[in-house]
Amino acid sequence: MSDTAANLRAQFPLLAAAPELHYLDSAATAQIHRAALDAVVSHETTRRANVMRGTYRLAEAADLAYEQARQSAARFLNAGSAGEIVFTPGATASLNLVAHAFGSTLKAGDRVLVSVAEHHSNFVPWQMLRDRCGIELAPIPVGADGRLDLTRLSELMGDRCRLVAVTQCSNVTGAWTDVATIVAAARKVGAKVLLDGAQAVQHGPQDVRAMDIDFYAFSGHKCFGPGGVGVLWGRAEALARMPPFLGGGGMIAEVTPEASTWAAPPQRFEAGTPPIAQAIGLAAALDWMMTLDWTAIREREDALCQQLIEGLARIPGLRLLGPQHAHHCEARAPIVSFDIPDLHPHDICQVLDAQNLALRGGHHCAQPLLAALGAEACTRASIALYNGEADIEALLAGLDRARRELA
Ligand code: ALA
Repeated sequence: MSDTAANLRAQFPLLAAAPELHYLDSAATAQIHRAALDAVVSHETTRRANVMRGTYRLAEAADLAYEQARQSAARFLNAGSAGEIVFTPGATASLNLVAHAFGSTLKAGDRVLVSVAEHHSNFVPWQMLRDRCGIELAPIPVGADGRLDLTRLSELMGDRCRLVAVTQCSNVTGAWTDVATIVAAARKVGAKVLLDGAQAVQHGPQDVRAMDIDFYAFSGHKCFGPGGVGVLWGRAEALARMPPFLGGGGMIAEVTPEASTWAAPPQRFEAGTPPIAQAIGLAAALDWMMTLDWTAIREREDALCQQLIEGLARIPGLRLLGPQHAHHCEARAPIVSFDIPDLHPHDICQVLDAQNLALRGGHHCAQPLLAALGAEACTRASIALYNGEADIEALLAGLDRARRELA
């Protein structure tokens, strides 16, 4: 079957059952692919048992499937080995894990750089670490187009920067981060680089080794898998140097009444029963993604982004946030946020919903970015591989109607 948007859409049970729905909120949650759903059901009905504990055949089958899921995630990221993959409950948990575990190796006066463009999940944990440990937190500013302004990067890093933790792609503007420039500057002062890949993963497999980064975080529900599972990838040597974050079963080497010692990564970071079926479902989604022609998909996503941006430009007074053109690879992923004077995004989204258009409006958990761009809230359309021209046409018509009804 070819990868046309219609063929792809047919592989998503919710979308297949709701032909009238124009789903343009994949940056919040992408729809789940049939293969991921089937993998979850198959696991729960044929192999459901806890992992890393049982010696009976059912538990061994669960162990095997869970470890195979780790291998799929490693392939998707081109990781050095499956041992570098930690399953977590989601990107937020992955980021908090690094803030606690890597954070506990930092001293007062060490510096962490984030950016103004971060989702709150990559901002708040570092503020909490600063308040606990006295590290310095310095935000990289953004330019008028929402892209990270790296002109003063070395100055911001100073000589005690230990980590640069930034988004790979903004969840508001879709702007891609210039990762290579950040990595080059970080290496000069011996700082590590963490990328929040939450918004990038639904646009294709990633290559953490080519990017030469140290940590990568993402969520399963944003790349066509189940909710409740995510990944933290870390270089083997970086993970090995970190103490655990959560304590409990499965993450220890030995426990005595006096003290405990830790298992090696990745188990060290997977205390308690992990999200087993969800990890297996995520692996099915990633395996499926790795069969697709991403060059063709990205071209289609770019074309839809262009169609939308050109249509929005015809709306009087509308302000597009972020890069002002649609070239996917150089500037933005197909995430398009805009502000229409005197119309609140929540009202716009409600009128759009009545026309079967699902979009998110609000501050998108990125208040520092919105403040920097001079907006309190905005309406966001996010395009994924199952969207087509009809979705964009419906949105542009829906916005005309919203302007008439709300005027
Ligand atoms: N991070 C998700 C979003 O941007 C929830 O919508």
